[in-house]
Amino acid sequence: MSTLPGGTWTLGDLTVSRFGYGAMQLAGPRVMGPPADHDSALAVLRTAVDLGITHIDTSDAYGPRVTNELIREALHPYPESLHIATKVGATRDAQGGWPVARRPEDLRGQVHDNLRSLKLDVLDVVNLRLGTAEGPRPESVAEAFEALAELQQQGLIRHLGVSNATAEQVAEAQDIAPIVCVQNMYNVAHRQDDDLIDRLAAQGIAYVPFFPLGGFTPLPSPRSAALAWLLERSPNILLIPGTSSVEHLRENIAGL
Ligand SMILES: NC(=O)c1ccc[n+]([C@@H]2O[C@H](COP(=O)([O-])OP(=O)(O)OC[C@H]3O[C@@H](n4cnc5c(N)ncnc54)[C@H](OP(=O)(O)O)[C@@H]3O)[C@@H](O)[C@H]2O)c1
Repeated sequence: MSTLPGGTWTLGDLTVSRFGYGAMQLAGPRVMGPPADHDSALAVLRTAVDLGITHIDTSDAYGPRVTNELIREALHPYPESLHIATKVGATRDAQGGWPVARRPEDLRGQVHDNLRSLKLDVLDVVNLRLGTAEGPRPESVAEAFEALAELQQQGLIRHLGVSNATAEQVAEAQDIAPIVCVQNMYNVAHRQDDDLIDRLAAQGIAYVPFFPLGGFTPLPSPRSAALAWLLERSPNILLIPGTSSVEHLRENIAGL
């Protein structure tokens, strides 16, 4: 049982603290390159685990590879209780853009890259990131999600999810393979997924809001109120607030 605010949730067969950690802020400016302070990035990750966080969200596209390599350096061999969720479906270009990369061969390559950079034999949770950096886009997920389902059948992925997805894409993915989570943008000021959250809660599927504090555009409301509101909003909401600071990490937990 987690002593963190919000208690625990079960992603498939994996118990995680509802208060998790999003690793994206550990990379350099615009999520490119290494952190300004390598040691303090490692300290954030180790403190997160010391404080009882058992759910870390990452992607090999952060840096690229930077946050996965920091996670491995800080925490490998991983505690049994720790579960790392990653994302595939986008890559990075030299300008820091996030080009879509969702052909089956792209996804196979990205799953193997994540296994390598995190030094794992099996990825606990892989989210298929849909749409673009501008938001979800209505298009079929079938070919891409089938490719991931195949990798799951091969034993490389324990659980699947989708990210940046419309409700229709969630349903389309579920017709192909079970999902344990949906990771979309949502916070106290952006509540476009209210119906989806309730429908997922009824199915026992987690909803993991990204930008819980507003991301690169901080919310006008106090951070503690924004996080408390999410925890209260629905029991299937998992928090993955990002920070590059040990002090902010402690503050965000203490504020609840
Ligand atoms: N699926 C997707 O497409 C997608 C997209 C974006 C993000 N994500 C995931 O969602 C996670 C969360 O998103 P996010 O990190 O971008 O945004 P966020 O959690 O909404 O906000 C992070 C920002 O808040 C600041 N912050 C946090 N605690 C603070 C405190 N106590 N005092 C002052 N500032 C504070 C951080 O700065 P400091 O570093 O200075 O603390 C950082 O600038 C990411 O880490 C990533 O894993 C997923």
